[in-house]
Amino acid sequence: MARVDERRQAYASYKEDVQRRGKPFYPYAMFHDTVMSVVVVAVIVALACIWYFDSNEEPGEEGAGILGPRYTEKADPGTISFIPRPDWYFFFLFYLLRIFKWPESVILATIGVPTILLILLISLPFLDRRRERRPLRRPVAVVAGVLVMISMGVLTYKGGTVREALGATAAEIDTWFQRNNLPEEARPGAEFFAETCTQCHTYLGSGSANLGAPDLSAVGATGRNVEAFIQIMREGPGAMPSFATQPEENLRAIAVFLEASKGPGGG
Ligand code: HEC
Repeated sequence: MARVDERRQAYASYKEDVQRRGKPFYPYAMFHDTVMSVVVVAVIVALACIWYFDSNEEPGEEGAGILGPRYTEKADPGTISFIPRPDWYFFFLFYLLRIFKWPESVILATIGVPTILLILLISLPFLDRRRERRPLRRPVAVVAGVLVMISMGVLTYKGGTVREALGATAAEIDTWFQRNNLPEEARPGAEFFAETCTQCHTYLGSGSANLGAPDLSAVGATGRNVEAFIQIMREGPGAMPSFATQPEENLRAIAVFLEASKGPGGG
């Protein structure tokens, strides 16, 4: 009972203090907020105008403008090899998803961990009811806060610097070379292939089969030469997209790799 009384008293004296020395929210605080909001919006609009009128319309043109170019690359709605990346402030979540591998544990990263942290955050005022505010007297809160900041920093850094996973890992590509007895000159092509083609084609168990694309582990045994494979990539038979916009040397490298792929024991 004594504690409740104590609190009531504290609240009453707080109210009295506001009465005596404070200013009411309306109109004083409200006016501050309004002015500040207008300033922020005006700055954003001004920056947008400077960026827009100071930059060139076509990508790659000289003189990008002080706030950067309007486009770095024109959007290509037909792209099939685009690897989506989040904005930098989501890199930590993005990297968390890499640590928790799909599909067994991904539910932990997307729902489990954030929910637990949110519940902890919401219950914090009920768990820690001391009035102490000096950081040195609150070791648990300070350590927890610092740890969260450090881990978010590290995750953001790692998320920002990871090399995008190839469709097949380097180790998988190595096994292709052993099992299919591929010549070393097929290496660059194998890497392009792993990046671009394994979304639809399987190769010695790597990649995923989509749109009914055939397995290409032994496609070199069908008697087609490098030119024929380049032709296929340019045309894009059936449901396969055309790769005609890819640099010629990439297509040629992939074609060399395909021609050498004669199945396990071949070559
Ligand atoms: C979006 C899915 C998709 C992607 C990406 C894709 N392909 Fe295909 N590919 C297909 C489909 C579907 C077929 C079967 C087409 C048909 O109906 O004949 C095919 C057929 C082929 C064939 C003919 C196979 C045969 O034995 O006749 C080759 C060779 C081939 N693709 C190579 C590639 C290469 C190399 C790449 C990467 C540069 C690639 N594909 C990317 C879907 C894809």
